[in-house]
Amino acid sequence: MNSADNTWTFTEGGTLYSEKFADTYFMDECGLEESRSIFLEGNNFSERLETAEELIVGETGFGTGLNFLAAWDAWRQSSKTCRLIFFSCELYPLEKSLHKKALEPYGELAELAKKLLERLPKTKQGFHLIDFEEGQVQLLLMFGDVKETFKECSLKADAWFLDGFAPSGNPEMWNEDVFRLLANHSKEGTTLATFTAAGFVRRGLADAGFEMKKVPGFRGKRHRLDGKFEPGTRRFAKLELPWYSHQKQTPKHKPVIIGAGIAGTSIAREFKRKNIESIIIDTAGEVATAASGNRRGMIMPLFTMHGNHQEMLTVCGAEYSLQTLKDLDITVDTGALELDKDGENTELYKNAEARHGSEYISVDKQSTYAQQALRMQQSAVIDPLAICQRFFDESGAELIKAEVIKIESKQDLWMIHLSDNSILETDTLIIAAGTSTANLVESIYGESILNLSSLRGQLAYIKGKDLAGFPDLPNMYGDKYLLKDGNDFLLGATFQEDDEDTSLRESDFAELAESLKKLLPDFEGEPEFCGGRTAFRCKSKDYLPVVGPMPDLAYFQETYGGNKRTHAASRLAEAKYMPGLFVASGFGSRGFTTAPLCARMLVEEICHGRTFFPADFRRHLHPAKFTIRKLRRG
Ligand SMILES: Cc1cc2nc3c(=O)[nH]c(=O)nc-3n(C[C@H](O)[C@H](O)[C@H](O)COP(=O)(O)OP(=O)(O)OC[C@H]3O[C@@H](n4cnc5c(N)ncnc54)[C@H](O)[C@@H]3O)c2cc1C
Ligand SMILES: C[S@@+](CC[C@H](N)C(=O)[O-])C[C@H]1O[C@@H](n2cnc3c(N)ncnc32)[C@H](O)[C@@H]1O
Repeated sequence: MNSADNTWTFTEGGTLYSEKFADTYFMDECGLEESRSIFLEGNNFSERLETAEELIVGETGFGTGLNFLAAWDAWRQSSKTCRLIFFSCELYPLEKSLHKKALEPYGELAELAKKLLERLPKTKQGFHLIDFEEGQVQLLLMFGDVKETFKECSLKADAWFLDGFAPSGNPEMWNEDVFRLLANHSKEGTTLATFTAAGFVRRGLADAGFEMKKVPGFRGKRHRLDGKFEPGTRRFAKLELPWYSHQKQTPKHKPVIIGAGIAGTSIAREFKRKNIESIIIDTAGEVATAASGNRRGMIMPLFTMHGNHQEMLTVCGAEYSLQTLKDLDITVDTGALELDKDGENTELYKNAEARHGSEYISVDKQSTYAQQALRMQQSAVIDPLAICQRFFDESGAELIKAEVIKIESKQDLWMIHLSDNSILETDTLIIAAGTSTANLVESIYGESILNLSSLRGQLAYIKGKDLAGFPDLPNMYGDKYLLKDGNDFLLGATFQEDDEDTSLRESDFAELAESLKKLLPDFEGEPEFCGGRTAFRCKSKDYLPVVGPMPDLAYFQETYGGNKRTHAASRLAEAKYMPGLFVASGFGSRGFTTAPLCARMLVEEICHGRTFFPADFRRHLHPAKFTIRKLRRG
């Protein structure tokens, strides 16, 4: 995606105009009336807000978000009993100042516009779920081309706002492939409205399964189109591969979560946002005593040379984590500086800046300690323990102090055997037990299916006075970080595989001292560490978390393996999972960046059987990913 090949101006009436498409974003001087008349009235919006429990709106072309604001405003005027979910794509996101100016003429919506602008992601990449009105109004903003983003989206719309630029100048938004995708993301009865009356659009949408009609156009335009999805006997491709299909498993019992780290407390909080109270079991009987209990940590994206799943997850995750902290009024030190001592990352930084935009990251060539440094706006130094505690408090969950010894299934329930010899029953069990997740899963399956392992890390504390002579210290250099901790600093961390030593080791302190000296060659003598901490990350083989429903192995073997291995996915039956069994682990070195978003996705999947993640992305996090790779390879 490249906003650089688009330029914008304003008409005399103050309406945003795209030079690339030679078109205005709305009709001059009456954009809001146009939006309400065409898209809201065209979809019978206000009435549906009163009768539906949930209304999912899909839009082609987010632009300034005026249509979204008009829909949100209509929600505000309604009895607010309906949850509004609005998903939209955008290939050319607007820079913030331009965006602000473009919305200025619509003063009636100024309050909503301000809230929207505050919350819009700063990056130009990824799928971003943004909550308003305590989650009653949700915006899923998908940056990218309409076809690419809709292929990855697994939502089905109740109503469509088709709002590309005029079809003659913007053919990428109006063609058979797009019409087929719209049909694929529709349900019987889904409505659509658009400003255009172009004949090929009417015929194309009709071919895709929409019953189309011409209606009077807005302000002097003769016609425009409305439609309703009536697929008849047409068949459509499934939105997901069969072995990763979604299954709704609304809890009837209180969900039980094993583990009170950032994964477990995030999940409990997300359940509470759906009015579901949960139970957390933790050996320690307190939150954040294992990996999640460091004194300081970072929320920070990870950039790679060409952008990959890890980058996408950490970019979207950081947006979500920071937004969540803001919602909870948890103040953090935002913005981070990563040093590149020898200028080795020039190409990586250049690529990342081109992908995400200079409002998001920028390269500082005038760095005190290195050839260059990367400034990351959407990152923060955090107090991990305080965050877990706050998430837990918000969740209203009950915390049971016990170790889970064994898990058995009995009919549709999970029997959780605890160290005090009691047994807890539930129909919804989520294993979020950090490095113990692998053993607990193995106790159910009799084999290891998640490819999880543990990675030891030791941190060191440094007295503030020891670093007093060094101004503008960075947060990151190489694979280490140096974080302000009150008047002192925290330096971390080491990485050791297959190492279960919980003690603080001199050799690790020596390694950390070495890295500090590399950062600050003028540092004289040895740093005096005043303590430290050892903890264990849980990582998966592909360095991505595992989050989602657990496969029924016998069914997977029978349905996707053996002689079915080479069958086309479209011929195979949908997945069967272990009823009510989920996992959320493998967050590696970035749990605070990724676990809150993953928790949101998991709870959405459990309660509604859908995801807001791009499909390809969810597949890379799915607990069945290693099983299915093995089965399909034979
Ligand atoms: C040294 C170090 C530095 C790090 N720095 C950062 C950072 O700056 N930013 C960042 O985002 N991430 C960082 N991480 C990674 C981050 O801490 C982890 O990704 C995250 O804490 C994992 O959270 P979790 O909830 O999955 O696991 P944990 O926090 O380990 O929680 C698992 C919980 O499960 C409980 N449990 C386990 N087995 C059982 C059982 N059988 N019965 C009952 N309870 C059980 C444990 O008591 C524990 O409380 C760091 C990790 C380390 C080790
Ligand atoms: C008429 S404007 C939409 C106005 C918008 N609905 C609003 O409320 O401001 C059309 C939008 O489609 C976007 N667009 C054009 N081609 C696209 C493509 N191939 N994929 C995604 N978005 C595209 C444009 O950048 C522009 O923002």
